[in-house]
Amino acid sequence: MKFTVLTLFPEMFETINHSIIGRASKNKKIEINLVNIRDFSDDKHKHVDDTPYGGGAGMVIRPDVVYKAYKSVKNKESKLIYLSPKGRNLNQEKVKELSKEKNIILLCGHYEGIDQRVLDEIVDEEISIGEYILTGGELPAMVLIDSISRYVEGVLNEESVQDESFSNKYLEYPQYTRPETFNGKKVPEILLSGNHKKIDDWRKEQSLIETYKKRPDILNKEEIEMAKELINKNIMKGEN
Ligand SMILES: C[S@@+](CC[C@H](N)C(=O)[O-])C[C@H]1O[C@@H](n2cnc3c(N)ncnc32)[C@H](O)[C@@H]1O
Repeated sequence: MKFTVLTLFPEMFETINHSIIGRASKNKKIEINLVNIRDFSDDKHKHVDDTPYGGGAGMVIRPDVVYKAYKSVKNKESKLIYLSPKGRNLNQEKVKELSKEKNIILLCGHYEGIDQRVLDEIVDEEISIGEYILTGGELPAMVLIDSISRYVEGVLNEESVQDESFSNKYLEYPQYTRPETFNGKKVPEILLSGNHKKIDDWRKEQSLIETYKKRPDILNKEEIEMAKELINKNIMKGEN
């Protein structure tokens, strides 16, 4: 998977050059190619933005500079995603879908955004990482790189991706590690049993309970009833 990022602030991407994504990059499971949009300015001072036509606050990034940057990296396989608060909200399904691409170009806006004419010409998809405004598209681009890379073969072990929240509709079951007792609270007995079938069943139940408690909006009526029943059953057993 190759990510090409068109940005005015490539140095911000040092942040993802660590841990799992940094390792994936070093091991050539993914490639992150940073392209500074400013390098494509013909202006002797390397200006890339100007005031908005019609007036208003802030600066808008010029279409010609973005277009040249795009042309320098575009190929037949690439898909251009503009990170934008106006885009479709990112979710796990979208992440999974994008992980099937081979070559993703991520266009990061800044200031008041980018001239609409070049967006109309080059953007395949607009993606938002939430209904709030950030100062630039760099953090959203990193969110995309991180979340998509986790699905790229060899970046994580497959099991980690399968069991997680949103991968199977429900949120993930609670996780525990050593010590066995922490501040007087014991790890659920079943996890120490070594019985994989029972552990698996328990985790499935806990997944539903967790989703009911934290995101009931993603459950249907039947699932809500099932979660309530499980909670009652566990209360009777003195477990919840
Ligand atoms: C200050 S924002 C521009 C907002 C724009 N004036 C508007 O009201 O829609 C600057 C850049 O940050 C990025 N950005 C801001 N919020 C975002 C979000 N929630 N998701 C994705 N990108 C975002 C976009 O690339 C945008 O061009």
